[in-house]
This record gives sequence, structure tokens and C-alpha cells, in this order.
Amino acid sequence: MPRFIVQGGNPLHGRIKINGAKNAVLPMMAAAVLTESECVIKDVPDIRDVRVMVRILRDIGVEVELEDVNGQRHLSLKAEQIRTDTIPAELMREMRSSVLLIGPMLARLGSACMTHPGGCAIGLRPIDMHLNGFRKLNARIERYRDEVRVLASEEGLLGTDIHLEYPSVGATENAMMAATLAQGVTRIWNPAREPEIDNLAEFLRLMGSRIWGTGTDVITVEGREKLGGAECTVIPDRIEAGTFAVAAAITGGEVELENVCPSHMRAFISKMCEVGVRIIRLEDGSLRVQSPSRPRAADLRTLPYPGFPTDLQNQYLAMACAADGTSVITETIFENRFKVAEEFVRMGALIRTEGRLAVVKGVPTLSGTRVKANEDLRGAASLILAGLRAEGTTEVQGADPVDRGYMDFAGRLQKLGACISRQD
Ligand code: EPZ
Repeated sequence: MPRFIVQGGNPLHGRIKINGAKNAVLPMMAAAVLTESECVIKDVPDIRDVRVMVRILRDIGVEVELEDVNGQRHLSLKAEQIRTDTIPAELMREMRSSVLLIGPMLARLGSACMTHPGGCAIGLRPIDMHLNGFRKLNARIERYRDEVRVLASEEGLLGTDIHLEYPSVGATENAMMAATLAQGVTRIWNPAREPEIDNLAEFLRLMGSRIWGTGTDVITVEGREKLGGAECTVIPDRIEAGTFAVAAAITGGEVELENVCPSHMRAFISKMCEVGVRIIRLEDGSLRVQSPSRPRAADLRTLPYPGFPTDLQNQYLAMACAADGTSVITETIFENRFKVAEEFVRMGALIRTEGRLAVVKGVPTLSGTRVKANEDLRGAASLILAGLRAEGTTEVQGADPVDRGYMDFAGRLQKLGACISRQD
């Protein structure tokens, strides 16, 4: 099991390029199944979740090629022949976001079958809203043991009104993709508004779909007979950018982030300013993150976009452990996203958690020790961030989930002056 050995105390300095967004590229890869023509997705991050999605797509018959074009990774996908409507169970278990293939496969093939993705470290993560969206589109759901099969009726998918009781990112994406090949118009009410949804809609429009209203309270999709191929670039990963910004803040350093969209990070930037971290937009669009030696404390509540993202909550929690003052953190998205707190306590943090609430009394120093990551990639990354601050050496065990969402996390932190090594 890989371990990260971190020697704390080095303020980070330097410049780092942010990669394409994991949570944008995965739905875009799934969307390529909607057409038999070739699609090209540009600026694809070299992360494990992308590699797993490539394996799944190849397994169901999609031709997938990876190409390096002037240092940028391009993925070409051609779903001319889909040989099965079933997602392999072992790959479904490896990555729950393979549920995003159900909408495109249902739309393209008229049926899709998967094992229930199940919960994970951060919560139960049901898919009821995904399935309700398919039902509304005139499909039926059959369950047998842990298998879920979605079947369109004889007349195919029919446009409709879908009301999401919660702005679920995945359920919005699945409904959007399924609706592109439905007969008639579909309106998705109370959709998620994340920038990754915009990126997916841009890709679907380039494929010939008529979609509008992303970022508002209703997304409208006009169904089409067929979609064509398209080329589209993945937006920068706002969560990776936020993670490296916290790495600068927690070490009292100064780091420049290249290839970012500040407009996707307003809530995060505002919170960092509140705790005394200066974030300046440079001429070339990069962000400079300048941190005092010890950020102040401030309360935090995670919310659906444009609120503060849950995927940066553990990183903020790590910073709050060493902040000047007490922070009250409320996690409103997932029911179990404070598991990492018990590991921070082993490093000397003063944290009390109660359900979706954590109260953190900042301490001047954290102490390096042996800690254990769980399978939440953001929690694993946050333990490494805490190690960058802690006195002495922190050994983070079982941190390989970091590879799911961050390319060469240790190597890139090293380039910014961190004293960190990875032992596989
Ligand atoms: C996406 O997950 C992201 N993953 C998550 O990022 C992110 O944390 C999450 O959105 C929230 O922003 C990808 O995009 C691949 P949701 P998703 O459906 O779509 C409940 C990371 O670290 N819910 O918006 O699964 C659910 O349990 C990952 O990059 C239902 O109850 O999130 C949760 O409490 C982690 N029924 C809440 O809604 C459903 O049918 C939000 O989930 C669907 C969701």
C-alpha cells in the first residue's frame, strides 16, 4: 500500500499548472457513447478515474485512443459498435461515477444494466434521482439482487419535465444525456449548476444537441434523432486548484496557479480572503496565492454550486486545524465527510464532530505522526496537506486514492518546495 512521507515546515513557493477537471471529463467521456461518430476530448488529466473509465468504455466496445498533442493529452473516442448494455461489475465497484454511463447507454441502446454503485467513504450515495429521471423519460427499472436494469419502452424515451428534489450533479448529467436522444423536449427543474455541467452541455451542443439553461433553475433539452462527433476542451479543475491553494495557505507560502477559472472558484476565493489569504489575479489569468504564516479561523458551510464545494471541505478542515481561532464547519452535501478528522486529532488537532458539524479550535502547531487515509481522495489529499504544516514527519498510509483525482500529487508538491516522498 503506497505511503507518503512528509517532512513539515517548508512554506511552498513556485508556479504550478492545473489540469483538466476530473468531474468534467468523466461525464464527457460517457457522453461519447451517444454517437457513433468520433469525439475528441482535450486536456484530459492523467488520473486513475480516467483510466478506469477508459477500461469500461473499451469493455463495452468503444474505441479509445490517447494522444499527446503539444504536451496536452487528447482522448479520441468512437462508439461505432457498442457490444453490450452492461457495465462490468468489478469496474462499477472501482468507480461509482460509472453510473454516468447509464443515461447515454439507455439513450443509445434502449437499455443499460449495472450493479448498484453502492456507497463509499463519504456516504450512502443512492441513485434514486438518477432512476426517477429515467422513469420520467418513459423507461422502466428492473432490479435483480444488486443488478439494476433500465429499459426504454417500445416507443423509446419521451421528452418530459423532470423535477430534481435535490440539485444532484450526477442525476442532472444523466438526465441531460438521456434527454438528448429522447423524442420531444425535456426540462430538468432544480438542476445542479456546477461549471462541469456547463462543460458537458457545451460538448453535447457541439455534438448537435439543443440544450440551454445550464446554471439556471431549469435546463431544457430538445431531443434529436442522432448526434454527431465533436471536439471539446475540459475546463480547469477548480478542486485541484483549491487543493494547491490550501497547500500554499497551510504552509504560509506563495504559489501561482496556472490554467484556472477564477469565476468557478468565487466562494472558495472569498473564504480564503476571509481567513487572511490574498488571492490575486495576474495579467496572464493565473492566480497568485499569498498566505500569512498562520491563516485566521472562519466558519464554513458547504453548499451546492455556487456555494463552497464539498470537495474542498477536508482541505479547509486541515487548514482550520492550525488556524488562529475556532472554526465551525457544516457539511451539508454528504452525511459522512468528517472521517479524516480523527486522523487530524492524532496530529494534535482539537476537533469535535457531531454529524454534519465539526468544531475546530486551531492550534499553533500540528505534530507529525503516522495517519491512515480512507478511500475519499479529498480526505487523503488533506492528510498530506496537514503533514506539510506539521512539525516533524508525517507518514500517510493508504493514500493511493489521491491518484484517482490528482496526477503525481507528491511530485508536483515537491516542485513547490515540499519535502515529500512516495513509497509504493
Ligand atoms: C459529484 O458526485 C462529484 N463527482 C463529487 O465529487 C461531488 O462531491 C458531488 O458531485 C457534489 O458536488 C463527480 O462529478 C464524478 P450528487 P455526485 O449527486 O454526482 C445525494 C470528488 O471527490 N443523492 O450531487 O455523486 C448524495 O447522496 C467527488 O471528486 C441522492 O440522495 O453527487 C449526496 O448526499 C466526491 N440521490 C447529494 O445528493 C441521488 O440519486 C449530492 O450528490 C443522487 C444523489
